[in-house]
Amino acid sequence: MKSLSASLRARFDLKEIEMTRFDTASITESVINRFSDTPDARLKTIMTSLVKHLHDFARDVQLTEQEWFKAIEFLTATGQKCTDTRQEFILLSDVLGLSMVTVGINNSKPAGCTEATVFGPFFVPNAPEYKLGDDIANGAVGRPCLVSGSITGPKGEAIPNAKIDVWQADDEGFYDVQKPDLQHAQARGVLHSDAEGKYHFKTIVAEPYPIPTDGPVGQLLDATRRPSMRPAHLHFMIQAPGYETLITHVFRHDDQYLNADPVFGVRESLIADWVIQADGTTKLAFDFVLNPSMA
Ligand code: BEZ
Ligand code: FE
Repeated sequence: MKSLSASLRARFDLKEIEMTRFDTASITESVINRFSDTPDARLKTIMTSLVKHLHDFARDVQLTEQEWFKAIEFLTATGQKCTDTRQEFILLSDVLGLSMVTVGINNSKPAGCTEATVFGPFFVPNAPEYKLGDDIANGAVGRPCLVSGSITGPKGEAIPNAKIDVWQADDEGFYDVQKPDLQHAQARGVLHSDAEGKYHFKTIVAEPYPIPTDGPVGQLLDATRRPSMRPAHLHFMIQAPGYETLITHVFRHDDQYLNADPVFGVRESLIADWVIQADGTTKLAFDFVLNPSMA
């Protein structure tokens, strides 16, 4: 009759488990080996690297059990803070710079194309459609602003009928979706470039605002004495057939927070002059250059 351990071995292939006596250094290879049969090659690559870096990190800082448990509690609280309209894990990724590393890896564009930056949590699909020249503020409070420019490809070719999603905070630093009593979209909308690839619309001047700090990510910023104010910006998502979708911001040249963005989203090429006119209206001109898609 087969012994219990022999049948277990056959069933779970425990050879390696029984034979390995790992220590804090050799355990890494053992854990990585457990992923060796992963059929999805990409998943295998990711898990192998993740285990390696996680173990190296714990060894590097000589992680105590108390610290490990505090991290578990922090991640649990981060998950518990998430709702349909609040994504605390993305915010964590943002303040750790992981979102911008991922944006950089996936959006390397030829010189001359407009750079991408972080998406942020306040985009809303199917925002109201506006005609060129309309006021997308729709009641949002702020100083009047006229925005205009062009959408072209890298050779200067006009891109007509590009879909332009715009969204921004009001002068108190709140997006419409952060106001529970507001029933309609404000300071957000969809426009389309004209036959020459040009666009223009009215809105309000973007102002600096804090990222949400009433959750575990806010506590982390507090504990590490990190500022929470984002420099003022307008969000854009621009889509056109034959071109890569561009997700970006346009920042204000005169902003005091440009060098301290808590989510590392500022790019030199995305800083523009927002010029105050004699009548008090601010004018922003910004031309977007899309990268042709490969397919
Ligand atoms: C934003 O610009 O809307 C944003 C981006 C990252 C984190 C929080 C807010
Ligand atoms: Fe924003």
